[in-house]
Amino acid sequence: MDSLPNQLKGLIGPSILNADLSMLADESRRLLDSGADYLHLDVMDGHFVPNLTIGHPVIKCLRNNIPKVYFDAHMMVSEPERWINDMAGAGVNQYTFHKEATTSENIHDIIRKIKEADMKVGLGIKPGTPVHDIGDLINDIDVVLIMTVEPGFGGQKFMSGMMDKVRWLRKHYPQLLHIEIDGGINLATIYDCAHAGANMIVSGSALIQSKQANKDIEQMRQIIDENLRNKKLNIQLSNDQHCSH
Ligand code: DX5
Ligand code: ZN
Repeated sequence: MDSLPNQLKGLIGPSILNADLSMLADESRRLLDSGADYLHLDVMDGHFVPNLTIGHPVIKCLRNNIPKVYFDAHMMVSEPERWINDMAGAGVNQYTFHKEATTSENIHDIIRKIKEADMKVGLGIKPGTPVHDIGDLINDIDVVLIMTVEPGFGGQKFMSGMMDKVRWLRKHYPQLLHIEIDGGINLATIYDCAHAGANMIVSGSALIQSKQANKDIEQMRQIIDENLRNKKLNIQLSNDQHCSH
């Protein structure tokens, strides 16, 4: 795909963090040829998270090699406002930044600048951040990213407790909102994500290491789509009035 669909459907976005990064374009193409819908590109600045990865110069080269695919840049950086134009220039389609890296004063400006740069707006929260902290921003953004690990490293264990946030979001935004989840997602943990109502699935080490990525991607998408279609969303909340998670 080269843009976000208008209706809700399962979209699988491999994270290339744990791939052989000297072969970034080949590895990305391999996963796209296996049926991935988009690429999730983890950008880390060594400050917001204790790790360093790639920046816009690398993404620009990747874009030259892979012209039409939807690029989601997951900006694990302290000053997300700083890289908006560079990432747009590098060919990024979705600029996903973290609430924790903003203030209540600058967050609206950041959202506006991302839109002016012609990118979709993704807003992420770390496991410790309650989902109601972003409640009044949801109508202004395209994608909410719920982290299911502490950002910084691939290969960590999925935090199933985060599904309460996803259930709350899907209950209040049954159609319009793309809910992306990231961290520790594989063919075992995907069911929790699907039942809670997530539709954009980031999967790193599980897909990179798989010997049958095409089957795994297809199966993940089917599990998500089936839950969306049958409206089997398990959206019962313990506290229905407001989200306490
Ligand atoms: C973590 C990154 C994730 C992660 C995904 O900081 O944002 O994208 O590396 O990799 P797995 O699926 O291995 O957790
Ligand atoms: Zn990520």
